[in-house]
Amino acid sequence: MQTFEINKYALSHTSETNSILNELYRETNLKVLMPRMLSGPLQGKFLEMISCMIKPKTILEIGTYTGYSAICLSAGLADDGMIHTIEKNPELKAIAEKYFKKAGLTKKIKYYSGGAGKIIPEIDEQFDLVFIDADKNNYLNYYKLIFDKVKAGGFIIADNALWDGKVLTKPDPRDKEAIGIIEFNDFVQNDEQVENMLLPLRDGLMIVRKK
Ligand SMILES: C[S@@+](CC[C@H](N)C(=O)[O-])C[C@H]1O[C@@H](n2cnc3c(N)ncnc32)[C@H](O)[C@@H]1O
Repeated sequence: MQTFEINKYALSHTSETNSILNELYRETNLKVLMPRMLSGPLQGKFLEMISCMIKPKTILEIGTYTGYSAICLSAGLADDGMIHTIEKNPELKAIAEKYFKKAGLTKKIKYYSGGAGKIIPEIDEQFDLVFIDADKNNYLNYYKLIFDKVKAGGFIIADNALWDGKVLTKPDPRDKEAIGIIEFNDFVQNDEQVENMLLPLRDGLMIVRKK
């Protein structure tokens, strides 16, 4: 949504990304389909900052991809903390695990292979922070599935809440992803159990605090 120049300026006034994340960014761009799915340096730094502010003990991530955002979210993780991350594409596991190891996170990240709709109900945890970044048509399902697993005062962050500006138009009825994002945003906005803000960073982050 933002101009290239604004993003470039913002990045040039943001602390540098660590070398492991840079390496992962490069390898994802060279070897993996749809590398633009990865959070990237600006949003990644934002996730790091949020994690350092919250100092979460338990994090749930829905949509690991190659592990970039999980590594960012680990920045403020409590010493005895754990990130649970779910990814349905088995082809991505090796690269994510390679970088979790490089980042010294092997014991701090529990990786689940499979569909989030099936796996979330099987995780018996209460979360301080949940990052939703998987199939857009299921965002509302994921929100409902995780809600009781989020601690009071805990946060949910959902990526792509602006969906490339499509939230401003009446979507084609066949565009399940745009419809999913719009339904999710509207549901959160009307949910009296939370406070929320839609941050227009990159493709939009819906930030939700459970009261
Ligand atoms: C946008 S990418 C995640 C990017 C990652 N969070 C990052 O910032 O580096 C979305 C990921 O969600 C995964 N995904 C899609 N549907 C899923 C599902 N039902 N369950 C688990 N993962 C899913 C995709 O395979 C893809 O790797």
